[in-house]
Amino acid sequence: MSYRIGIIAGDGIGPEVVAEALKVIDAVGVKIDTVDYDLGGRRYLSTGEVLPDTVLEEIRGLDCVLLGAVGTPEVPPGVLERGLLLRLRFELDLYVNLRPVKLLPGASTPLAGRGPADIDMVVIRENTEGTYAGEGGFLRRGTAHEIATQGSVNTRLGAERCIRYAFELAAKRPRRHLTMCHKTNVLTFAGDLWQRTFDDVARDYPSVTTAYNHVDAACLYMVESPDRYDVIVTDNLFGDILTDLGAAIAGGLGLAASGNLNPVREAPSVFEPVHGSAPDIAGTGRANPLAAIISAAMMLEFLGESAAAARIEAAVGIALTTMGGTTASTMQSSTREVGDLVAANLA
Ligand code: IPM
Ligand code: MN
Repeated sequence: MSYRIGIIAGDGIGPEVVAEALKVIDAVGVKIDTVDYDLGGRRYLSTGEVLPDTVLEEIRGLDCVLLGAVGTPEVPPGVLERGLLLRLRFELDLYVNLRPVKLLPGASTPLAGRGPADIDMVVIRENTEGTYAGEGGFLRRGTAHEIATQGSVNTRLGAERCIRYAFELAAKRPRRHLTMCHKTNVLTFAGDLWQRTFDDVARDYPSVTTAYNHVDAACLYMVESPDRYDVIVTDNLFGDILTDLGAAIAGGLGLAASGNLNPVREAPSVFEPVHGSAPDIAGTGRANPLAAIISAAMMLEFLGESAAAARIEAAVGIALTTMGGTTASTMQSSTREVGDLVAANLA
């Protein structure tokens, strides 16, 4: 059987890292039919289009989407973020953003004295609501009396489905521990809804131990004692921030992978490295393709190809021990060589 996978390679280093991810999928023997979508900064600058409705409708019929990175310096902020990335997340109802924060053997952390046994968590970021929903607007923009509001949208349904997913995941992991991160001491409306929802859902998962940390404290703890975390569930903006910190402690953006999931499979899930298009190193062959390769492995796992996903993760571990550093400035191998290394080390 063959899967139909949409490829949004995008801009900058996007196409370079996606090529390596596709090389590895091919080498692991999972058959996919790819459908290329020319979307991102280049398309926007040449045609003014960001995500035409007809393209979105076509994407709805696919099994999954693999995205490299979008963005070029000439495109104003917000155009591609809201018009493409967030539109995909909202329109396809990709309500879980799954972001592993796992220090792989061979990767290095800036946290002194810490190793893979200390840093192995998964952040479940709510992906369709909060401040990202786009509530708010301007009054009298550009005048001395201007007003800007940007609210946070929190629904019981949105919080509950994400929290439930986090409990399901925690129940399957050896430690069975779930921490909610929020800011309930200040965000007394949204935080209250999240806390009550969390407590209600917790009653359905007696095998999972729970904790709560304010998100500012969680930033401190992720650095001082990352071993306290197993699964974290949090809102959209807190999750965005926490997972960049997570990337920093688990080998850097060159390794940070993510899945935007529609867990009920009513639409294709979108897998993408957390990093951006890095125009400064585009075309130099110095981009680390591992974040894209790990994202591809997460996609295979989601499709039910668990054995292939595990083989890729193991091969990534081997590649890490021979490629030198994991950033553009420390990597000893080129983008293509890293892809070759992973492909060659698939058991
Ligand atoms: C991420 C990115 C996006 C986000 C941007 C590019 C819209 O930072 O995937 O973490 O804020 O979610
Ligand atoms: Mn981010």
